[in-house]
Amino acid sequence: MILPVILSGGSGSRLWPVSREAYPKQFLKLNSSDHSLLQEAVLRLGSLAECLPPLLVCNEAHRFLAAEQLQALGVIPSRIVLEPMGRNTAPALALAALAAQQDQDDPLLLVMPADHVIEDAQAFLDAVAQGRRLARKGKLVTFGITPASPHTGYGYIRRGEALGDAGYRVDAFVEKPDAERAAAYLSSGDYLWNSGIFLISASRYLEELERHAGDILESCRRALAASREDLDFLRIDVEAFAACRGESIDYAVMENTQDAAVVPMDPGWSDIGAWDAIHALHSRDDASGNATQGDVLLHQARNTLVRSESRLVAAVGVEDLVIIETDDAVLVADRHQAQETKRIVEALKRDS
Ligand code: GDD
Ligand code: MG
Repeated sequence: MILPVILSGGSGSRLWPVSREAYPKQFLKLNSSDHSLLQEAVLRLGSLAECLPPLLVCNEAHRFLAAEQLQALGVIPSRIVLEPMGRNTAPALALAALAAQQDQDDPLLLVMPADHVIEDAQAFLDAVAQGRRLARKGKLVTFGITPASPHTGYGYIRRGEALGDAGYRVDAFVEKPDAERAAAYLSSGDYLWNSGIFLISASRYLEELERHAGDILESCRRALAASREDLDFLRIDVEAFAACRGESIDYAVMENTQDAAVVPMDPGWSDIGAWDAIHALHSRDDASGNATQGDVLLHQARNTLVRSESRLVAAVGVEDLVIIETDDAVLVADRHQAQETKRIVEALKRDS
């Protein structure tokens, strides 16, 4: 069986001021007006065969948001695991894998971030079906995207020999390379972006974590042993989890394992990391390259994103801007520096 594990514990600080600590991006309707990114992740599983209801790992502060958003879809999750604090994705997946082994024999975990847009769900499900046999054979399967730019926020995968089932050996996995290396990887044509979606059996993930970051596994075992059931939630013990080192799956396991495979896919994937990604998604059909959301008036603007939540926002003669208006804060940023929005959030935290 496949158990979808939806990682929804990120803070989304690059999408400030819409994404806030109390209401981060995965719970917001950033792509469609009907569903949040988390709900879209659940819905895209649609017709996947032999699939259990999803297991969510999120921060305990968001437990009711998460539960309500699933309920609105009529989905009863396998579990909602609550982290008392973020320790990044390697521990989050360790908790999911350990909890899954208590409930099921040894399911294949389909690890899905909650901050992606995927336009062609069927192409995604086809890729998952292709990865299934490799994952059953013990491979740590990732899904690779043909890179479109030398983006430094992604993992890069060098594709090796064909393994059958449309998969390839991973010869090298480099998480978030610097700009120079990213440019070299892009021009070599040998690399794919890591989509951040993985298909791995619970036991293989735990084995590889033990080998490459045993301290994280040990802390997670302790934290799970001390956790308690509360309504439909599994609450992870604060003290035990606080002692866990924070690290991502990519740095802790994927860069080190010898047993990774990649299945390339092209489902119209984007990571909704910062406002420039929202601009790219919604400006495609506009001759001036603008994207607007809400009550907005533009005159002679180009390649600009304007989102208004509570007032009319007008812009004249501007280019390559991001203008985001909310009730209590307005962001104006150079579109090419949208990633730096997190610095504002850091400064706000320091001052508060
Ligand atoms: N439960 C939980 N706890 N979830 C978390 C935590 C945590 O502490 N930290 C992050 N997440 C969730 C985020 O909400 C997101 O859905 C997912 O895990 C991935 O985390 P990101 O922080 O968004 O990772 P990234 O985008 O920098 O990098 C990853 O994704 C890229 C593609 O989108 C890596 O896998 C890269 O290699 C990959 O290219
Ligand atoms: Mg991300």
